[in-house]
Formats: sequence, C-alpha cells, structure tokens
Amino acid sequence: MTRTVYLNGDYLPETEAKVSIFDRGFLMSDGVYEVTSVLGGKLIDFAGHCARLGRSLSELGMPAPCSDAELLAIHRELVQLNDITDGMIYLQVTRGNPGDRDFAYPPADTKPTLVLFTQNKPGLADAPAAKTGWKVISVADERWGRRDIKTTQLLYPSMAKMMAKAAHVDDAWFVEDGMVTEGTSNNAYIVKDGKIITRQLSNDILHGITRAAVLRFAREAQMEVEERPFTIAEAQAADEAFITSASTFVFPVVEIDGTTLGTGTPGPVAKRLREIYLDESLKTAI
Ligand code: PDD
Repeated sequence: MTRTVYLNGDYLPETEAKVSIFDRGFLMSDGVYEVTSVLGGKLIDFAGHCARLGRSLSELGMPAPCSDAELLAIHRELVQLNDITDGMIYLQVTRGNPGDRDFAYPPADTKPTLVLFTQNKPGLADAPAAKTGWKVISVADERWGRRDIKTTQLLYPSMAKMMAKAAHVDDAWFVEDGMVTEGTSNNAYIVKDGKIITRQLSNDILHGITRAAVLRFAREAQMEVEERPFTIAEAQAADEAFITSASTFVFPVVEIDGTTLGTGTPGPVAKRLREIYLDESLKTAI
C-alpha cells in the first residue's frame, strides 16, 4: 500500500513527496526528529515528544515549523489516512533549503522542512522478541557530544547496529570512559537486588521520553531507582537488564558481550515494568 505522508503542509502519496538536494537535512544532517508510537490508534506520550522536539529545536536555534496543536493534528490525520492501529510516526524538521551549500546557517527566515510519515506495525506491543529478550554487544561510543539533542546524525548508531548484526546479536550498548551510555536507539538499564540502575541525564545520552515515564512508574510502584553510570562488567553480573524506547517500550536484554544474564530469559522487573508502562501509557494516549 502506498502511504500518505506529510511534507510542508501537504498530504501526499509517498512517491510524490520530494525534498530539495540543497535541504540542510540532506547536506549537513541539520535536522532533528521524533518517533512517537501508536497503540490502538492513539499516540503514546505525545506531549513528551512535542516538548523534547521543542528543546532540540531551541538548542540548535532552529525555528519551530508550526504549533504543537498543529503537530498533533498532523499526527492524527496521518494515523487516520493510513489506517494505523499500531505503529510509529516519524517526524523530522530540518533547517530547510537555503538554495546552496554553506556551513553557516541560512537566514533565520528560511522555511524549515517538516516531514512526517507512518510505519505500520500491527501488534507492536506484542513483539515476540519481547518474550525472549535481546542479546547485545558493547561498542565504543564514538558519537558527538550533544546526544541530548535528537538529531538525524545517525550514522554511527547505524554502524553500531551493523557491528551487532555481524556479531549475530540484536543491538549494541555504547561505552565511554568504561561506562555504558545507552543503546544504539534506546536507553539502557540493569537490575541488581531489585534496584533499577540507569545512567543519569546529561549531554551524554538522549533524554528518553519512555525513560522518564518508566522511572516515574517504577518509583510510584515503590521500586528503587538509582541514576548513575555502570560498567559492562557490572551489567554482566546484574540480575537482569533492559532497554526502553518509543518503539520497543520496555524490552528485556538477556545477554551482554556473550555473557548470559541470570537465567537467560526476561527478568521479572523488566516484565513488570513493561506491563505497567503499556497499561499506564495507554490510559493517557491521545
Ligand atoms: N530512538 N537513546 C537514543 C540514542 C535513541 O535514539 C532513542 C530513541 C532513545 C529512547 O528515547 P525515547 O524513549 O524517547 O524513544 C534513547 C528512536 C526510537 C529512534 O531513533 O527510532
């Protein structure tokens, strides 16, 4: 089926949506993005994604393409036009097309490019792999220093994903100065003696919208949470591990660099948090 996508005010068949070769997103990776999941036709954590988009734009001095209310309307229209029950909506804003290549930012009144498209993933919340868990390897974190801004510079995370594939595992965890930062496209956690441990927020990691919700739900459920860095060795000795992101929710990790965690099956904390996250976030889905 040909998707209907959104480009700068128009809803178009995907084959007809065209962006200039001079677009700063194409030439400079001068763009930011968000991925919002859809469950039962509703948007999960939309306000959080909108708030983070606003922050990414302002950190880069990029104008907002439209209001949050307009963004919500576009998301909803795309869900409807593409008949999405479960899946994701990808949104990207770039600094637009200045008509030529230049390292300097174009004038502030250059129109940003706004693109959105849907990804249909029936049964997204029931992914079979969530029942078996992922295997990960560690790789050096060689990304830039502002990982708190959700930019479209995703080449190194793509390289890391390919390193994981070459090692016949599912994903990679980045390590910097001996400490885990996060996964290729997710935040990383371990659990030891019932305590959930995850790196604290800083410019070193993306401030995951799912992370914020999961930590809030965990604290509300009287689970202990410690926000601090951890090593791969500590992770390998943990009782369990998991990741979070908008597309995987809470997802168990059962092997790190060839070492099986616990029983090698998803642990009780990850399973419980996944259930709580899905239940609670569906209640506030819009
Ligand atoms: N990735 N860390 C990184 C590096 C990410 O790319 C992501 C999200 C996360 C989790 O953030 P959130 O919970 O807000 O999705 C953490 C998205 C899903 C992606 O690139 O497809």
